[in-house]
Amino acid sequence: MGLDKGFLKIVSTGRYTPDKVLSNKDLEKIVDTTDEWITSRTGIKERRIANGETTADLATLAAQKAIEKVGYDKNNIDLIIVATFTPNLKSPSVASQVQTNLDLDKQGIIAFDLNAACTGFIYALNVAERMLHSGTHRGALIIGAEVISKVTDYQDRNTCVLFGDGAGAAIVEKDKTKEAIFNISSKEDQDLILHVDDYVHMDGQKVYQFASRVIESSIKELLAYGNIPKSKIKKIIPHQANIRIIKSASRALDIPLESFFINIHKYGNTSAASIPIALDEMLDEETMETEDKIILVGFGAGLTYGACSLTF
Ligand code: COA
Repeated sequence: MGLDKGFLKIVSTGRYTPDKVLSNKDLEKIVDTTDEWITSRTGIKERRIANGETTADLATLAAQKAIEKVGYDKNNIDLIIVATFTPNLKSPSVASQVQTNLDLDKQGIIAFDLNAACTGFIYALNVAERMLHSGTHRGALIIGAEVISKVTDYQDRNTCVLFGDGAGAAIVEKDKTKEAIFNISSKEDQDLILHVDDYVHMDGQKVYQFASRVIESSIKELLAYGNIPKSKIKKIIPHQANIRIIKSASRALDIPLESFFINIHKYGNTSAASIPIALDEMLDEETMETEDKIILVGFGAGLTYGACSLTF
């Protein structure tokens, strides 16, 4: 869709992360690594691991929190999109399982999954915005949910230290006073530098270079297209993959690190769940004023990438 202007109101958000913690110290006992290496190279201290919960369980729990937070009438939900690359079943979709778990049975609801890897939540928001804009749907439940631990090779120190499990959800509606600008894209990846078969495989340095480049370009293009001055940005919520990638984006964009919301130390990289979990935590911590703008930015396998600005 490239650059695209529309309207979207964030009505509520929620998150759920499993109770089970896998710390760097725990990983020292499993693979040849150290807390010092992981912390200094990635910023991650610990991550959450599902303990029997499925992707649909995590997604449902995050959705329930979003509904309960504002007492949302769940009968307004007529669109459910779950961004995930780790569905618990090949079919039905995680979104359909969430619909069942939430007991949503209204005529005309549609529910489907979307796989755009770690950019999935932003892709899903863009798709939802277009559907709400067309008038076919009114209330959208957008979720990012992953159980990456089931596709993580805990013998491979290059990847197993990076990922965690969790889910984040947002309820969104159309609102003509809340401008939303999207800049999403996908780039060919002949060498499959980041892919998943039975396990996650990655050329870490190539992914690092790609990520650093596209965070900068996605946000620069977005700000120019939307005529948004940097001073208007309340917070940037980047995909939480590596603290060094976030710091390099801060330098390249000349936007202070304090403007970036960071929780990677607690959860590691939860792929499509990372941005909605961070969004929900950020909203717990910050008081948002009307017309405040936030920016979400992500990148991942595909190679997918992109950013969006949302207005409060
Ligand atoms: N513990 C200790 N040593 C490790 C290690 C670990 N967990 N993982 C790798 N190493 C070693 C490597 O084997 C290598 O050793 P060598 O020099 O003897 O060969 C050394 O550390 C340096 O490896 P390198 O790959 O150059 O490290 P790096 O500084 O590039 O950091 C990543 C590796 C994965 C942290 C970094 O490349 C990265 O974050 N890339 C982006 C990943 C990402 O964001 N993926 C998801 C995108 S959605």
